[in-house]
Amino acid sequence: MAQQVQAVIAPGKNEPVRVETIQIPDPGPGEAVVKIQACGVCHTDLHYKQGGISDEFPFLLGHEAAGVVESVGEGVTDVAPGDFVILNWRAVCGQCRACLRGRPWYCFNTHNAKQKMTLLDGTELSPALGIGAFAEKTLVASGQCTKVDPEVAPEVAGLLGCGVMAGIGAAINTGQVGRGDSVAVIGCGGVGDAAVAGSRLAGAAKIIAVDIDDRKLETAKKMGATHTVNSRTTDPVEAIRALTDGNGADVVIEAVGRPETYEQAFYARDLAGTVVLVGVPTPDMKLELPLLDVFGRGGSLKSSWYGDCLPSRDFPMLVDLHQQGRLDLAAFVTETIGLGDIEQAFARMHDGDVLRSVVVF
Ligand code: APR
Ligand code: ZN
Ligand code: ZN
Repeated sequence: MAQQVQAVIAPGKNEPVRVETIQIPDPGPGEAVVKIQACGVCHTDLHYKQGGISDEFPFLLGHEAAGVVESVGEGVTDVAPGDFVILNWRAVCGQCRACLRGRPWYCFNTHNAKQKMTLLDGTELSPALGIGAFAEKTLVASGQCTKVDPEVAPEVAGLLGCGVMAGIGAAINTGQVGRGDSVAVIGCGGVGDAAVAGSRLAGAAKIIAVDIDDRKLETAKKMGATHTVNSRTTDPVEAIRALTDGNGADVVIEAVGRPETYEQAFYARDLAGTVVLVGVPTPDMKLELPLLDVFGRGGSLKSSWYGDCLPSRDFPMLVDLHQQGRLDLAAFVTETIGLGDIEQAFARMHDGDVLRSVVVF
């Protein structure tokens, strides 16, 4: 029997989102219905609403979520009703070239639910990042569910499903930040702050936060930044070099996604250092670099996709570290809101007032 629940829909390009009743089918083979307890509001949800990701409206928004498995379909053995899970948008297939070569974080053969959720008139919904969790319940592939310690607060756990994982993973997985390293993070929004927190977890000795907004630098300090640089008033490359005995940082993480900040990251790294691009550029962006500088400075230029995470490995670990008081995920939650407040949350995000607004059910 299909169920009816309340959910937030983006009906058309740039149209305001609205709360609607949707229909959720019973889980089919390999699928699960999850009762959502919390879901963070991410920039990507706004990009869906603006038509920047796909034109397959209407979208069922929300993808940074945690909840409890309500029912599972045939053949599902990895999760069971009652399990507390974090949802992920990268259920790896285990069979593609990336998976078989041991690089499952580059699996693009994502497993989503095969059945569709619909509006009451039968119109099929496109769930954001294959999840759609601004809803009392949602239908996903069971591989999108990762069991974690049920004692953790849902509004904190859900954040690991996207932005916070992207930032922490940029530091610990992609950047391979090590004990005693110096790290610089350029752009300290939610993703950059998570990269700061990840660098602290990894034991970095110096963590230099760079932003153009002093409010962001204050928050970055709470996440573990040991030094801050306002790049509106100070040349960040010179400042990072000065703070690292003239060398540059071992790892520089770019969390803005712009050519000028990438160029700063490139020159702020130590010889043989690592640059990690986690900010997402737009298709028109270009950057010219002297090839001799690429050659002469050595090291590696990497990009980080969803923090190069493995949900089954990283979600439970980060929840446990949070529960032990070694990673303050609660610091990322600026406010909790209701399902009807998402338009206002988008506006506050745009103004740079919040790290994360989280819908709680
Ligand atoms: N130099 C330094 N910091 C900058 C600059 C700049 N030129 N321009 C913007 N910033 C800062 C902003 O002040 C803000 O603190 O970068 C931060 C960006 O943060 P958010 O807008 O909150 O974005 P966030 O969610 O952190 O995502 C950052 O990662 O996943 C991607 O698509 C996402 O590209 C985006 C990036
Ligand atoms: Zn795969
Ligand atoms: Zn997201």
